[in-house]
Amino acid sequence: VGGACFVGWGWDLGENCAQMIKQGAKAMPIIIDGKKTAQKIKCRLKDKISNLKIKPGLAVILVGDNPASQVYVSMKKKACDEIGIKSFEYKLSQSASEDELIKLIKKLNKDKKVHGILVQLPLPGHINENNILFTIDPGKDVDGFHPMNIGKMMIGAETFLPCTPYGIQKLLEEYNIKTTGKNVVILGRSNIVGKPIGMMLLQKHNFGNATVIFCHSQSEKRDELLKQADIIIAAIGKPNFVKADMIKDGAVIIDVGINRVSGKIVGDVDYDDVFNKLSATTPVPGGVGPMTIAMLMSNTLQAYGATD
Ligand code: GUN
Repeated sequence: VGGACFVGWGWDLGENCAQMIKQGAKAMPIIIDGKKTAQKIKCRLKDKISNLKIKPGLAVILVGDNPASQVYVSMKKKACDEIGIKSFEYKLSQSASEDELIKLIKKLNKDKKVHGILVQLPLPGHINENNILFTIDPGKDVDGFHPMNIGKMMIGAETFLPCTPYGIQKLLEEYNIKTTGKNVVILGRSNIVGKPIGMMLLQKHNFGNATVIFCHSQSEKRDELLKQADIIIAAIGKPNFVKADMIKDGAVIIDVGINRVSGKIVGDVDYDDVFNKLSATTPVPGGVGPMTIAMLMSNTLQAYGATD
């Protein structure tokens, strides 16, 4: 039976899948619905916020005119409006100086109405990203990018978890995809996704405890390692990069890629090619993307002082 090995992993397959396996059909992969899960999280947050006299505030800073960043910032603002977080938007020109940006952050650090501060990345080349991220008050760092918060995350202390990795972990939990003892191969080593999700999956807790392998452009044994992956997290920004012959039967793929190809958004995984080999996967769009925003909302409430 094609799908039988998935049962061995102790997953909650649900009635339909269990029935299909009994009848000898190859199980369809579980489609991890990030849109629905994000909606559920936002509903819960909205409920909580409705009981607060003073509303949580999130400052979002966009520097320059990167079209993708403009879209992401508008989606973040929309989510704030939807659930009752007050958003403060700051748009600086492409030529804004590092000093100007630092001054703005220092002002927001002191502003009592602002509980969370987010600087949309990437920044224009003349601005040093670290100088900016280090300026944000760690208590308002809802992206979890300040070194203090990265350090806390690394040692498993309570902190703001970076939104995309946090969203991935929530999806694994929601779909009861166990990571303990599994080989997780992470494609990509960015500070925003690759490195932090690896650290989080390594922690000694449920939906952690994984054997984490980082692969990147310099990895000599990438193909060999990828074949051994029970779970693949693809975060390299290369459209349709992961193909069926690169993975093992029954793998889980979390596709973090958001790539525009001839006007269409596609992930880092060739979805149609790998589909029949998988036991679970996230679609693009509608997988990890909406979760990033939901976890930003959750972190903002955490910064406010009301725990999720
Ligand atoms: N650019 C891409 N992803 C992110 C994110 O999660 N936060 C910020 N601030 N910028 C990003």
